[in-house]
Amino acid sequence: MIRSKSREEITRMREACAIAAQVLATLQPLVRPGITTQDLDEAGRDAMKRLGARSACYGYQHNARRYPAHTCISVNEEVVHGIPSFRRILREGDIVSLDIVVEYNGFIGDNAVTVPLAPITPDLERLLRVTREALDVGVRAAQVGHRIGDISHAIQAYVESHGCSVVRDMVGHGVGATMHEPPEIPNFGRRGTGEKIKPGFTLAIEPMVNLGGYRTKTLADGWTVVTADGSPSAHFEHTVLTTDAGPEILTLPPA
Ligand code: MF3
Ligand code: CO
Repeated sequence: MIRSKSREEITRMREACAIAAQVLATLQPLVRPGITTQDLDEAGRDAMKRLGARSACYGYQHNARRYPAHTCISVNEEVVHGIPSFRRILREGDIVSLDIVVEYNGFIGDNAVTVPLAPITPDLERLLRVTREALDVGVRAAQVGHRIGDISHAIQAYVESHGCSVVRDMVGHGVGATMHEPPEIPNFGRRGTGEKIKPGFTLAIEPMVNLGGYRTKTLADGWTVVTADGSPSAHFEHTVLTTDAGPEILTLPPA
């Protein structure tokens, strides 16, 4: 069962999500040739601190491992959960996914973008455009009265009709006082399936899209997910509030 957030909870979700968006907006212009993903992570940590928030990723436990950084930064064939490193120097032609999850006042905001280091190839341009638009399509499908599977189906249909594939090993999710709450929101699925959407759901919608096949594997570090065929991958994410007036993106970038 998915529980709708109370007014009070929605207020706090708005605050956490605004901070997550602010941190993401702070990092984006720093993505330049020559910077390391470790530098970006430190900038993310500092921005969160300045805004009175902290990383919800740092120390997050999965399969008995704690995530060791404040942000997830995934380059090229890395799909998600790339661990920032001083050894990873960004270069022209890279695509860089920044995934920022903050906790503020007991609530979580979760958002991600994939940033190109221009110039990138036309195929990569297409991958980024399709993934960004797949997120829009998914958000638009998050209508009260529809079902979770309608979001999944809309994303899959859009991505596959544009010649890319959707990752199946990771999914979007409900978000609130904890990072991962019901429901799971796969980026593939059938219309009319899953729970009915009610007002007051806060959902992290996050298409992960590959230029090649949909299969992934996890590296020996226990976190970094890469495409099985080595093809590039992109990721965009918003936290969205469902309302009777339609979906509202809580992680819109600051004006
Ligand atoms: N947005 C990612 C997710 O929803 C962030 C994971 S943080 C980590 O799974 F700690 F797991 F790395
Ligand atoms: Co997420």
